Amino acid sequence: MNRGLTTPILPASEAAVAAAARSLAEGGLVAFPTETVYGLGADATNAAAIARLYQAKGRPAFNPLIAHVSDLRAGMQIADLDAQAIALANAFWPGPLTLVLPKAKGCNVADLATAGLDTIAIRVPAHRVALDILRAFGGPVVAPSANLSGHVSPTTAAHVQSDLAGRIDLIVDGGPVAVGVESTIVGCFDELMLLRPGGVPRGEIERVLGRTLAQPPADADNDGGQPLAPGMLASHYAPRTPVRLNAGSIEAGEALLAFGRNLLPGVNAATAVMNLSARGDLNEAAANLFGYLRALDTRGAHTIAVMAVPHHGLGEAINDRLRRAAMGRE
Ligand code: TXA
Ligand code: MG
Repeated sequence: MNRGLTTPILPASEAAVAAAARSLAEGGLVAFPTETVYGLGADATNAAAIARLYQAKGRPAFNPLIAHVSDLRAGMQIADLDAQAIALANAFWPGPLTLVLPKAKGCNVADLATAGLDTIAIRVPAHRVALDILRAFGGPVVAPSANLSGHVSPTTAAHVQSDLAGRIDLIVDGGPVAVGVESTIVGCFDELMLLRPGGVPRGEIERVLGRTLAQPPADADNDGGQPLAPGMLASHYAPRTPVRLNAGSIEAGEALLAFGRNLLPGVNAATAVMNLSARGDLNEAAANLFGYLRALDTRGAHTIAVMAVPHHGLGEAINDRLRRAAMGRE
């Protein structure tokens, strides 16, 4: 185990970026901010570092990782992009879009990072600190969300610390993230497929493509066969407290995760109330989602009741994560 390390937290700065790049080059594990959630980075070409990363997260090793690159050109060295993939990259990079692509011939990313698949997931994050680290390091960095496997993704350095301190080498603190849900994942197969709703709403991608994205087969979630996005396990984003969706009223002893102006009957009996966005703004709700789930998880409620959230825009990703949270942790 990596336990027993002391894990320094450095506020984002030139020195922190240099320390992060140095640690990555030495096979270290570095948590850093992206616009979506905090990532736990390792040198994508270093199988030993990636093995440590899986171990630090307690993550099942069949779960492939996203390679983060500094720009489209760096992406082209490890993946083959056709015209449509390039159109998406030009429209959304840097930004919260991940493309699953055929591995390029000279791709030097470790097989362990892609779980033996002949495809690779890549993205260019839209965060100054992430990009500075990628440029200073000078190669692809795999980075799953910087949380223990199965736990809610971290949107602040403090979340990373509470899950991974003592298990990783460095945390770079760039403040709270802007988007709050993970990147949208599009599989560039024979058909373009939405593998995971996320920070870029489906509609924006479909507008660039001029057509709709295909839906992955309904069983992509479970572990029979070869899942298309193997990390999309049903219970991927669960707090420890049971979660009840589309609550129409509140029972005593429940915590309420609210949305919008109108609170529910019984709200005064709630042990705690947090509102994702009182003004009903889905972007604000996405940014608050994981932090509020973590906070309500500590309030001793027997259940976290969640009000309905609309499905348009970032609502698709929010509802996806809430559905997974409600499936519980095994
Ligand atoms: O916003 C994000 O994407 C964050 C930040 C840190 O960049 N990262 C993130 O990584 O969410 P992670 O490891 O938690 O999720 C990666 C997802 C998993 O569902 C995994 O199965 C899928 O990407 N994935 C990776 N490579 C794949 C591949 N070759 N084919 C299909 N799915 C893949
Ligand atoms: Mg994750």
